[in-house]
Amino acid sequence: MFAGPVEFLKGVVAMDGLPPADRLEVCFAGRSNVGKSSLINALTGRKTLARASNTPGRTQEINYFTTQGPYLVDLPGYGYAEAPLAVVEKWQRLLKAYLSGRVTLRRAFVLIDTRHGVKKVDDEILALLDRSAVTFQVVLTKADKVSRADQAQVIEQVRGALAKHPAAYPEIVLTSSEKGDGIETLRAIIATLV
Ligand code: GTP
Ligand code: MG
Repeated sequence: MFAGPVEFLKGVVAMDGLPPADRLEVCFAGRSNVGKSSLINALTGRKTLARASNTPGRTQEINYFTTQGPYLVDLPGYGYAEAPLAVVEKWQRLLKAYLSGRVTLRRAFVLIDTRHGVKKVDDEILALLDRSAVTFQVVLTKADKVSRADQAQVIEQVRGALAKHPAAYPEIVLTSSEKGDGIETLRAIIATLV
């Protein structure tokens, strides 16, 4: 699925700018700087397809990428971002409208930094996904920055946090976009969704 052409389709700033709901999509949500854009690049094997950067708040639109399968949707981060408050609030409203109102959204991958585990702002997004009945799956990112022992501990913390979320898909995927860990697993998961 990711061997074929992958292209940037459009950046969306309002719900009425979303492409027609004529095929399935999966999205990548998570706190600012967690590694959403980098993960899309790793999945597609295109280093600069989605713009990644060390500045939290890099992705400011809902970015659609076409594949031979579902759309891949790169979302603006939530939580802290280096942008004016009014701007951040506008993205947050769009993000929430998207996550609760996109009929073709097949699964939301919620990215959690392996160094940090599930934070309060993550829990709020997970609760929104529960209410919207959007199945979500946690992807741990930046595993290369964490020892094996600490990875195991974070996986346990996340498992505990997921227990109270009915929309959670139980399998947690540990990834490193830098080293490639978990990327093939995630590709296979996405392939089963279509
Ligand atoms: P926003 O668009 O700002 O919300 O950020 P994002 O979630 O899209 O994060 P992005 O992919 O831009 O990555 C943020 C920073 O983390 C960049 O400096 C990346 O190089 C780095 N990063 C992302 N994934 C990994 C990883 O697996 N390992 C390591 N070591 N660094 C990573
Ligand atoms: Mg981004």
